[in-house]
Amino acid sequence: MTYIETEKRLAAEAAAKLVEDGMTVGLGTGSTVAYLIPALVRRKLDISCVATSPASFDTARALGLKVKPFSGIDRLDIAIDGADQVDPDGWLIKGGGGAHTREKIVAGAAERYVVIVSSNKLVDTLKVPIPLELMAFGIDATCRQLGDVRLTEAPISPDGGILAGYFGPIGDPAELARRLSAIPGVVEHGLFPPEMVNDIFVGRRSHVSQRRVDG
Ligand code: A5P
Repeated sequence: MTYIETEKRLAAEAAAKLVEDGMTVGLGTGSTVAYLIPALVRRKLDISCVATSPASFDTARALGLKVKPFSGIDRLDIAIDGADQVDPDGWLIKGGGGAHTREKIVAGAAERYVVIVSSNKLVDTLKVPIPLELMAFGIDATCRQLGDVRLTEAPISPDGGILAGYFGPIGDPAELARRLSAIPGVVEHGLFPPEMVNDIFVGRRSHVSQRRVDG
């Protein structure tokens, strides 16, 4: 196992310890969450989960977790997810796996949102591309307003959205997040603000550092 994989596993296992009996848990998506799911299973807790992607749903169910559709549940006790980039202020870029819309809904519903990353995800400055999910209807008009945007080869999202990347300037992430959200046809973008994040667990070779954000 490379040290990056070890760091992902360590961060995931540390976050799994936050989960308690009776909780409703949001499961993120990606290769770091792939270590979280078995770590939760090993804890043998009585929990209910919602998943941010069909892949996480299938893995969690196959390993024996109780996974419910995200309807009829209006809040989650905790959600745990990976990230593509984490900046010093706690801004995240997510969506490398195309699941950022569901991930943001789950993050927003969670009392506590915990990010698990290997140390290579920490960046001084956020870098493009910023993942986007776009409506198919009027997509050329949406892209024109976005500016420097490229559609990806990825299949459409489980919600029918077209996945793309924003390659323009970032500048102030809060301002860019507002601009992207204001363009009709943008379902969701992959900038997650620090206000959404409670803790960041970073795997560091042989240990895990925990940072409270509470932005
Ligand atoms: C999925 O759409 C993403 O937001 C992932 O959470 C993010 O890309 C982190 O994935 P890895 O854990 O595979 O790096």
